[in-house]
Amino acid sequence: MGYPKVTIVGAGNVGANAGLLLAMKELADIVLIDVADGVAKGKALDIMHMRSNEQFGPSVIGTGDYKDTADSEIVVVTAGVPRKPGMTREDLLKINSGIVSSVLEGALPVSPNALYIFVTNPLDVMTNLAFDIAKLPKQQLFGMGGVLDTARFIHSIALRTGAEPSQIEAMVIGAHGEGMLPLPRLATVNGKPLLELLSKEQIDDIASDTVQGGAAVVELLQTGSAFYAPASSIALMVKEILAPTGRVLSVCSRLEGEYGIDGLHMCVPTVLGRSGVERIVELELDDEELSKLIQAAESIKSQL
Ligand code: LAC
Repeated sequence: MGYPKVTIVGAGNVGANAGLLLAMKELADIVLIDVADGVAKGKALDIMHMRSNEQFGPSVIGTGDYKDTADSEIVVVTAGVPRKPGMTREDLLKINSGIVSSVLEGALPVSPNALYIFVTNPLDVMTNLAFDIAKLPKQQLFGMGGVLDTARFIHSIALRTGAEPSQIEAMVIGAHGEGMLPLPRLATVNGKPLLELLSKEQIDDIASDTVQGGAAVVELLQTGSAFYAPASSIALMVKEILAPTGRVLSVCSRLEGEYGIDGLHMCVPTVLGRSGVERIVELELDDEELSKLIQAAESIKSQL
């Protein structure tokens, strides 16, 4: 029996853990590709050594050759370098946009029909650049950011309300970074509005913990950024594509007039499915939320 083929570009902590989760959830055969092909092969072999313990069916292979990624259904791009001390945002942009274009050069010719999920930071900018380079239909190319930010938001709400994450409905839209927009007004716990359960101060703390969630992990780790929750966020998006439930996720999707924003990828509520972005959901935002979203859009545009 065959599983769908999912390629993960970049066998770092995010890419390898996403591969591990997808294999263990039996969602896809995984190809891990990295310029450091030994790392990709080594991590793939290590995961395959788990198979008898964990009893999962899919295979995970490592490679440095795009030939092995041919005919993937989904290509997840995690390759890129994180910002290092002394490096400007422009330096990072230049390096990572070079990486993103060479990934597309390698992957697109052999998997022209794949769905492309970008994860490389700065996420919003990279997804927009990739869209310009790839010239794919907007359904086919999008980014992971809002799912991670939403997961952090829900975690923070769970901590302060004592509720289980499964009882919480909440979403973060906007940019993945500055311009991130948690939406406490629309959040509910067991169907009750969050605004009725907590004080304004508590809600402000939740929003701030959400926006600072990535930085908090960086500060603790000292040597890198988060990877378990980012990997899990990739796995959730891949799951919604391969086995859609209609669940609305915050995805860095192409807007063409929705929310009054045109020709830009940013994180908005999105229904994913076998063709990628099936539908963008337009929430009823109030004036302040909408103006923050538009501000985030302007800020992403100014970086392109
Ligand atoms: C984060 C970075 C890695 O949010 O984007 O953790």
